[in-house]
Amino acid sequence: MTKKKLLVTGGAGFIGSNFIWQTLETRSDYDIWNLDKLTYAGNLENLSGIEEKYPGRYHFVKGDIADENFIHQLFEKEAFDEIINFAAESHVDRSIHSATPFIITNVLGTQILLDAARKFSVRKFLQVGTDEVYGSLGDTGYFTEETPLQPNSPYSSSKTAADLLVRAAFHTHGMPVLTTRCSNNYGPYQFPEKLIPLMISNALGDKALPVYGDGMNIRDWLHVKDHCDAILTVLEKGQFGEVYNIGGNNEWANIHIVKKILELLGKSESLITYVKDRPGHDRRYAIDASKIKRELGWEPSYTFETGIQETIDWYVEHHDWWLRIKSGEYLNYYKQHYEMEL
Ligand code: NAD
Ligand code: TYD
Repeated sequence: MTKKKLLVTGGAGFIGSNFIWQTLETRSDYDIWNLDKLTYAGNLENLSGIEEKYPGRYHFVKGDIADENFIHQLFEKEAFDEIINFAAESHVDRSIHSATPFIITNVLGTQILLDAARKFSVRKFLQVGTDEVYGSLGDTGYFTEETPLQPNSPYSSSKTAADLLVRAAFHTHGMPVLTTRCSNNYGPYQFPEKLIPLMISNALGDKALPVYGDGMNIRDWLHVKDHCDAILTVLEKGQFGEVYNIGGNNEWANIHIVKKILELLGKSESLITYVKDRPGHDRRYAIDASKIKRELGWEPSYTFETGIQETIDWYVEHHDWWLRIKSGEYLNYYKQHYEMEL
């Protein structure tokens, strides 16, 4: 069996770390290099024990995708066969406060990776994108791959720019690129600034649950394991130059998710606190994922009932994991385990 060297960027984050575990478990033909800058969102505790479980198959490199010299040196040293770019600044609220880091990582970083992939003849480049590039829907309709790109936040605008640079790499240079656009994910290891882990952890601590606006904004939720499975499917079977939407056909208004979480935890709805709305808050996202089903045979395996119960159980069992994030202690993990300066 020929082993492939896969570069995963942003693998210490939520989806990237789930992806690494899942790929090493289900694919014996991939060895993985995880390149991560370890921003506030990067947490190597998500991958604790992986080197022991998969000896020789997992390598960590601390670095920035927007640092061109560093990226070129890394590509000279390691002949990567394939790349999946998860690395991003990913939180809409942070992009409203300060957009520049989003442009540097999400736009410049993606182009630097594309340039290196071209120079070093990487055989596949998969860009992990978001449905937020399509903007906001009214009460009806779905995002297809043909829906015009109309991002509304600095985060989604930077992700749109990245998608367009990937498109340009295909059309201009004939690069072997693939793009996925997924709806909102939930599951283990999600940073507790995002809706579901924030609400679970606050509810467990009997703290207020801040619901933006009227709570009737709708998101289409997909379990992270289904997302990772879809990414592997596109990597293995996707057609270069194509975009694949990924979604769970699972729309929920925020307030209904929050109430569901409280119900499953046996906590009171009096914890719900309506707060000022997010500026430019997209009203509804809903994905039409029929192309990936029709062309590549992928569809989600989790029902929301199973997925949300499992997720709540995970955050209950991994109390220490999110408490260390909330206290900032998780930032010491790299120093302690890799014995280098942060
Ligand atoms: P995350 O914020 O949890 O993780 C991002 C990771 O990227 C972190 O480990 C961080 O340290 C790393 N990183 C940031 N800047 C970097 C840089 N310059 N160089 C190297 N590493 C850097 O994000 P996530 O939720 O895991 O999302 C991963 C990807 O999936 C992102 O591209 C995001 O846009 C996309 N996506 C996320 C969702 C979702 O619901 N979370 C949905 C669709 C698409
Ligand atoms: P989020 O998890 O930030 O994902 P995104 O904005 O990328 O969809 O938010 C999901 C939804 O939950 C979104 O409509 C904003 C809302 N929300 C709240 O109501 N309260 C919160 O504290 C957070 C973080 C989000």
